[in-house]
Amino acid sequence: MRKIGIINGGGDCAGINAVIASAVKSGKKYGYTFYGFEKGWTGVLDMNYRILDEAGVRGISHLGGTILKTQNKGKFTAIVGVGQKATYPPELIQAVLENLKKLEIDTLLMIGGDGTMAGALQFVPHGINMVGVPKTIDNDLKSTDRTFGFNTAVDVVVEALDRIHTTAYSHDRVIIVETMGRYTGWIALYGGLAGGADAILLPEFPFSVQGVVDFLRKRRSHDRNYSVIVIGEGAKVETDEVLIKKTDQSQGESKLGGAAETLMKNIEKVAPEEFEMRHVVLGHTQRGGTPNADDRILALSYGHAATEAIHQGKFGHLVVLQGGKISTVPMDSMLEGLKGVTHDNEAFQTAKDIGIYMGE
Ligand code: F6P
Repeated sequence: MRKIGIINGGGDCAGINAVIASAVKSGKKYGYTFYGFEKGWTGVLDMNYRILDEAGVRGISHLGGTILKTQNKGKFTAIVGVGQKATYPPELIQAVLENLKKLEIDTLLMIGGDGTMAGALQFVPHGINMVGVPKTIDNDLKSTDRTFGFNTAVDVVVEALDRIHTTAYSHDRVIIVETMGRYTGWIALYGGLAGGADAILLPEFPFSVQGVVDFLRKRRSHDRNYSVIVIGEGAKVETDEVLIKKTDQSQGESKLGGAAETLMKNIEKVAPEEFEMRHVVLGHTQRGGTPNADDRILALSYGHAATEAIHQGKFGHLVVLQGGKISTVPMDSMLEGLKGVTHDNEAFQTAKDIGIYMGE
């Protein structure tokens, strides 16, 4: 009788609970027993787990966050900064292995992003069977076309922009809206395009503050005295600096934030008192809350596919969405770097061609 540990790592995301519920329910026909560890590997270390049977996952698929709780910092941080991997100390690995052995668990279902998978892969040489489910609202993983939680985050941006538009228009203001996404601009691009932003500034394409001011002046000369600008939190000005970056990486990846406010201040410097401006940081509203229908279906499909992959012995693999189909790829493909927005991206081209200022 196979015992399977479920571990989620990194930031939470709408849809994790649907993955867990689907994996557990799909495993019933194989007689699998699932153990859900709290707060990722820390739960293994502290033997903080719960047995996830059908009753244990009832009614959770539509809930945001994760019933297992999670963390994206601490001693199990496996990626610090962009792509810099950290190796776990041997004694930490040993302690985890001993506890898994005590519970007779040799198979893990890992739900996480590149950091979680970079950590998980360190246990493979020690005989732990792994199957992974990719997770991040940023949608920046090369190995899959889409991650659950992304669509829901985009919905939040769109709803916010619909609201911000009417107040920006009424007051003739420039409102700068900051979205999540770290070093890639998928949430900003999709949210901005669907939400009718006037300008979208992405981390992938450094922009000049003067360029933004010229764009605002041009709009004003056409009697459009209000503007809504969407800026991805990792956006850079031409000098190649992230607008604001808190660089304490000792506990994990550096935190981004403040791009909208910094841009507002920089516009004010270039064009003093020309525009009445406000800034809004959507922050964790994009990550929290219930998954939308698309994300629920993707997450349920991933959970089901992960259990099937375990049953088929496809260890060391991730379940992914490629060309509209769920398939599997080697787990280490997750570490091949981030998938950023490129100039030939359809949404980018559309935004540009319908007159949205894309920072260039
Ligand atoms: O990677 C997911 C993400 O939500 C990013 O978009 C964001 O920069 C970061 O996590 C925020 O992390 P935290 O919850 O630690 O503030």
